[in-house]
Amino acid sequence: MSDDQIFDVVVIGAGPGGYVCAIRCAQLGLKTALVEKNSRLGGTCLNVGCIPSKALLHSTEIFHEIKTHSSAHGIICKDLKHDLSALMKRKDGVVDQLGKGVKALVTKKGVTCLDGHAKLIGQGKLEISDGKSSGTYSAKDIILATGSKPVELPFLPYDGNVIVHSDHGIAFDQVPKKMIVVGAGAIGLELGCVWSRLGADVEVVEFLPEICPQLDAEVAKSARKILEKQGLTFKLSTKVTSVKVAKGSATLVLEDSSGSTEVSADRVLVAVGRGPNTENLGLTEIGVEQDERGRINVDSSFQTNISGVRAIGDVINGPMLAHKAEEDGVACAEMIVGQSGHVNYDLVPGVIYVDPEIANVGLSEKQAQEQGIEVRTGTFPMAANGRALATGATDGMVKVVADAKSDKLLGMQIVARGASELIASAVAHMEYGGAAEDLARTIHAHPTLSESLKEAALSADGRGLHSF
Ligand code: NAI
Repeated sequence: MSDDQIFDVVVIGAGPGGYVCAIRCAQLGLKTALVEKNSRLGGTCLNVGCIPSKALLHSTEIFHEIKTHSSAHGIICKDLKHDLSALMKRKDGVVDQLGKGVKALVTKKGVTCLDGHAKLIGQGKLEISDGKSSGTYSAKDIILATGSKPVELPFLPYDGNVIVHSDHGIAFDQVPKKMIVVGAGAIGLELGCVWSRLGADVEVVEFLPEICPQLDAEVAKSARKILEKQGLTFKLSTKVTSVKVAKGSATLVLEDSSGSTEVSADRVLVAVGRGPNTENLGLTEIGVEQDERGRINVDSSFQTNISGVRAIGDVINGPMLAHKAEEDGVACAEMIVGQSGHVNYDLVPGVIYVDPEIANVGLSEKQAQEQGIEVRTGTFPMAANGRALATGATDGMVKVVADAKSDKLLGMQIVARGASELIASAVAHMEYGGAAEDLARTIHAHPTLSESLKEAALSADGRGLHSF
């Protein structure tokens, strides 16, 4: 084996977990390779997930805002229409530009990029094949960062045309007339909004009694009501039991407590969660242990049961989020060189980028109560915020959850325009062990939407200044 096939670390998978881990390994002086089978680095997030969906959400939000609110702003738009192919072209351009940026970044940081599919062939050994040729490589540490893929329901198999998942749902060449979304989680809501704003009749079928189970019921309900006002319809506590596909259309049988109904659509987007990518990695052959959901078992230093084989990101336990995977990657690299990398899994923020955005961090009131913690809560409606009124962003609310005894901030939920940015200050307060009182006494610029966070904290102590 030549020197250029021997590394300190080989990271398999160049999503946000893998490429960030490889950069950190290189920064720490390790001879590092990053293996990717796709032609563009960036994984699901960059190619078919976070980035393209946010590009589409932004374009369609502009369209929807002009369509529904321009006249209120005194802006007259006649013959407003969209050009779907231009919208998709912009999205593809964003993805392409960022993909090139990631490749340039990892190369500049001293990471060797290897093209092909990697498979473990023994402890510290792997084979990389690009379909034409293959080579054998060795490394003291191999890090599996192979990500996740959409879960398929056995009775709703994907055909890529009528029954589709999120990879397809970011690239339709026509606006569906009727789209059924199965699953009211992040993907279902985001792509449901994209196509609804472009004119599709979107109906969301959700198994649970409310959308977004990570939120308290009052917050989730307020978010759903806003989305309903925008034109989405929801069938809650409903399950899909079967489907018939014929002539470019699907007929689903839905079941709820009152019986079964049929509904037809030209597209059915299934968004019921994601599962780990572990096929053809040689895991079984070398004996890497997986849990009942196929995720790779690791200890607190990302180490699997096979010495020198570690795993991070969506392929292990925890929220399947790009920023969590990045933090795993940094901590894993630092642990390899004996540093004390750390990830605070209690404070991973989650965001759904609909309008208004839905963001949360820490415990909901319900989750805190389930843990036996006595809490105080404070809420603030966006409609009472001056900046929200001035900018037409009055939909939504903020909810703060604090420990009733110590006043420590335990959680925050925000439904508001720009909630993805607002949640960062809640995370920072909580990371430093802040109390609701600390947030209540932090000066927020006026007029800003962020004042709503301070007001919610004040209201947890019955001192809200701008709410009734
Ligand atoms: P999810 O787990 O967020 O939501 C799936 C929803 O489908 C749940 O509400 C569940 O109750 C429902 N469901 C499950 N089986 C069902 C059935 N048979 N019929 C009807 N409803 C059913 O999954 P999603 O939206 O597919 O996202 C996958 C992963 O990707 C998640 O971990 C999510 O956090 C992540 N993601 C995050 C994004 C973000 O941060 N903005 C965007 C996209 C994905």
